[in-house]
Amino acid sequence: MKVLHSIMTIVVVGFTIVACGTQSDKKSTRVESSEIEIEAIGQPDEQIRVAKSLIASSDASKIKAVNAKKMFKNYCAVCHGRKGNMEINGAEKLSKSSASLEQRVAQIYFGKGTMAPFKGIIKNEEIVAVAKYLDELKK
Ligand code: HEC
Repeated sequence: MKVLHSIMTIVVVGFTIVACGTQSDKKSTRVESSEIEIEAIGQPDEQIRVAKSLIASSDASKIKAVNAKKMFKNYCAVCHGRKGNMEINGAEKLSKSSASLEQRVAQIYFGKGTMAPFKGIIKNEEIVAVAKYLDELKK
């Protein structure tokens, strides 16, 4: 009887340890993977890499076909102003921006702060076209 009791105790304790072990394992991997995801999204290098490939994969003729001025008026002027010189909602003056084309594409594609991402809202070539158009605002 005593032997059986000891065996039962060992089984119960052993099971508890195994159960807790797997549970905490699962928990830690989940936290890890979500941290990696957040890091990849917020990672400037990663965003620039994506921006470069967006620029490279956008057809020059498609970019030219975009009415970037109109796009800017419709999607961006509300915060940046038609001439890119307004600072509504914490927006930076685009007419004074020194951001590179890659940085601009990344900013438009991924968004930042109160500026929402335009990924999936406007086409990739439209993002590139409007990013290029910003040079016009500096003249
Ligand atoms: C809801 C307001 C809002 C809209 C709409 C908006 N932006 Fe912005 N934009 C911001 C804010 C705020 C920042 C500054 C973000 C930060 O650095 O935290 C910003 C920053 C930028 C920058 C970076 C400037 C720099 O010098 O770093 C670029 C480029 C830019 N916006 C382009 C655009 C374009 C192009 C559009 C339209 C497709 C657009 N934005 C639409 C609010 C907006």
